[in-house]
Amino acid sequence: MPSYSFVLNGKSVTVEAPADMPLLWVLRDLLHVTGPKYGCGVGVCRACTSHLDGAEIQPCVVPVADCADRAVTTIEGLADGDTLHPVQQAWLDCDVSQCGFCQPGQIMAAAALLDRTSSPTDDDIDRIENVCRCGTYSRIREAIKKAAAPD
Ligand code: FES
Ligand code: FES
Repeated sequence: MPSYSFVLNGKSVTVEAPADMPLLWVLRDLLHVTGPKYGCGVGVCRACTSHLDGAEIQPCVVPVADCADRAVTTIEGLADGDTLHPVQQAWLDCDVSQCGFCQPGQIMAAAALLDRTSSPTDDDIDRIENVCRCGTYSRIREAIKKAAAPD
C-alpha cells in the first residue's frame, strides 16, 4: 500500500491508502477528521468542501495521491487557535446554522470566496453551489456580507 504525507490543518500526517482513495475517505475514516461531511460523493452537494493549498476543493472527488506534499485545510483548521475565522464569527453573529450538516462546507466555501474577492457581490455569492436542505441561503448571504465588511 503506498503512503502519502501532507499537511493537515497545520500538522504533518502520513497515511497508507490506495492512490485513488478520495481524500474525504482518508480524512473521515483514516484520520477521523469529520468536519467535512459526506453527502453525495460525486462533487455535487459540496458538503465536504475544504481547501487544498488554500483553494476550495471537494475532497470526495480528489484522490489522496493528488494531495501529497500539499496543505489540506478542513473546517477544523480554519480558526487561528482560539480566534475564529471572520467567516465563522459572522456565521455565529447571523445565527446561520439550522440542522448544521452542510455548514462546514458552506463556511469553507465562503472563506475561499473571501480569499478570492474581499468584497463579493450578490452574483459572486450566488455562484456558491453548496446545497442546504434547510434553506439557510439568506442567512448565508447575510453572514458573508458581514464577514466582508464587519461593523
Ligand atoms: S460529498 Fe457531495 S460534493 Fe463531496
Ligand atoms: S443547515 Fe441543514 S442542510 Fe444546511
